[in-house]
Amino acid sequence: MEKKLALKNLVSMEDLSKEEVLQLIYRAQAFKGGASTPSCEKIFVANLFFENSTRTHRSFEVAENKLNMKVIEFDATTSSVQKGESLYDTVGTFNAIGVDVLVIRAKEEEYYNELLQSPLITASLINGGDGSGQHPSQCLLDLMTIYESFGHFAGLKVAIVGDLRHSRVARSNMQMLKRLGAELYFSGPVAWFTPEFAEYGTYLGMDELVGLVDVLMLLRVQHERHTSSSEAAFSKEEYHEKFGLTTARYEKMAPQGIIMHPAPVNRDVEIASSLVESPKSKIFTQMTNGMFMRMAILEAIVRGRSLEEAHDGNLN
Ligand code: CP
Repeated sequence: MEKKLALKNLVSMEDLSKEEVLQLIYRAQAFKGGASTPSCEKIFVANLFFENSTRTHRSFEVAENKLNMKVIEFDATTSSVQKGESLYDTVGTFNAIGVDVLVIRAKEEEYYNELLQSPLITASLINGGDGSGQHPSQCLLDLMTIYESFGHFAGLKVAIVGDLRHSRVARSNMQMLKRLGAELYFSGPVAWFTPEFAEYGTYLGMDELVGLVDVLMLLRVQHERHTSSSEAAFSKEEYHEKFGLTTARYEKMAPQGIIMHPAPVNRDVEIASSLVESPKSKIFTQMTNGMFMRMAILEAIVRGRSLEEAHDGNLN
């Protein structure tokens, strides 16, 4: 009988083996294909977002509702965070009042280490993004989208383009894609191609890159993470011409090539606005896949808790 995936936490792609990634993709695909959803009505979940989000926050919320979880509202702008409460104490509070699963986004990289080491906190943690560190649910939905398009990872040529240095999406994806056997390329402003990326793949200019790769993953320029205005010392138009997917470059893409972007998209900067919904674009498919992938992640977490607490009955 097929072994079902069970996870206690998901904070980094380093938590997952290749086999576990594929199990999550298969399960998310099954949900997308209409597989019946388990009912997790005994599970309390809260989404603690300390950084802005539309996709991650709301697609977790839809996924939680589809699994019949009890979703406890949290808004950092009206919570006791405004009175100076720390992330640790906010999480400790949700844990103390009986919330089982916490989806957290925060600007501090690896904020989760302190929480995982605490004997107080027994709730499961899902990292919805930690600064420029990791974004595992985004990586998994990206992998699902690539797998849906090509049916494999080994030998695929994948380019990650743009604000590499500040991108948790780039970091999570390059690590797992390399383990899965993809060939990695990078582009964008050279200053953002730091040595950690050079270990994973080859830098090429955009004009050389676009015709070569199967997957063109564009990244948002993350002005909010730049420490000085000189980090992005170009106009939107200059960036688009040098590093963006222009309509002229689109015409040079390989016939099988797909365009990805985690969004939000800066239209006419990373990608020409007219290309966001072009035939090669998977940008909105990524969002749809994200909801199904988050269902698969939550299901695996609930199963992990059931096994750990030895009170099976939440899932079978
Ligand atoms: N891709 C992504 O993480 O989007 P949000 O910031 O809207 O969640």
